Amino acid sequence: KRIAVRVPATTANLGPGFDALGMSLKLYNRIELEEIEKEQLLVEVEGEGAALLPRDDSNLAVRAIASLFRRIGYRPAGLRLRLYNEIPLASGLGSSAAAIAGGLVAANALAGNPLSRQEILDQAVALEGHPDNVAAALLGGVVIVVQDGTFYSCTRLQVPRNVKITAVVPDFRLSTKAAREVLPEFVPLKDAVYNLGRAALLVAALREGNWDLLGVAMQDRLHQPYRCRLVPGLNDIFAIARKEGAYGAALSGAGPTVIAFSPPECEVGEAIRGAFLARGIEARVLNLEPELE
Ligand code: HSE
Repeated sequence: KRIAVRVPATTANLGPGFDALGMSLKLYNRIELEEIEKEQLLVEVEGEGAALLPRDDSNLAVRAIASLFRRIGYRPAGLRLRLYNEIPLASGLGSSAAAIAGGLVAANALAGNPLSRQEILDQAVALEGHPDNVAAALLGGVVIVVQDGTFYSCTRLQVPRNVKITAVVPDFRLSTKAAREVLPEFVPLKDAVYNLGRAALLVAALREGNWDLLGVAMQDRLHQPYRCRLVPGLNDIFAIARKEGAYGAALSGAGPTVIAFSPPECEVGEAIRGAFLARGIEARVLNLEPELE
């Protein structure tokens, strides 16, 4: 039996929605999982991260698969796993969420789908440590996810398509762990209020396609001000994006990728790339669309 799963890239936070908002994007990793008779683990990787990703049981997709099999008591003789990756590694576009979500969904399918989507979501969050990327990867579209006791409640928004999404991926990797270590444990009440209003406004704006609101609605005081020292020029880049005509821009997830929402004709990606280059950092521009099926 062979299972093939396609998982989208994701951009988490969208500015003010730290650990609560995520959007899936039309950029995919594919996972093929096959049970084999020989007691062996075979891992092949192509595409993004092929030179870096481990081929043994420390591989994140393999760990996700093993955790699901442990939970349901499924013991395959051997496994062959093929990963075809389009999502840049450790760049803020959800590569680890895709490995986890893809691994769990593929393993569940191989075992005859014993776990529900909610159970997979909860297990994915337990592996990833925060819910916004895995929820968007599993559900697609734009998601709002909140922790409720030990469970995660998640809802999905319909978003109009007439907006251009540009991701600019600088040529250095930033681990989510490192980008979370710079965050404070407590934030001032006024900063919480600042984000609260904007996150609510952003949800309304996305739903209505009221893009002009994004300039304000994508502002954030909970994580980006602390992370800007990990991403050279970040504040200038936000200003440049706005000057070039983007509706709004934010650090994608924990970074270092910057994501911008703009009118279709706007070439904001090149301007952001130029700002990175001016600081001696090469960057790639990806023109993306939301994944809304
Ligand atoms: N919400 C998470 C963070 C996303 O900002 O740390 C990580 O990609």
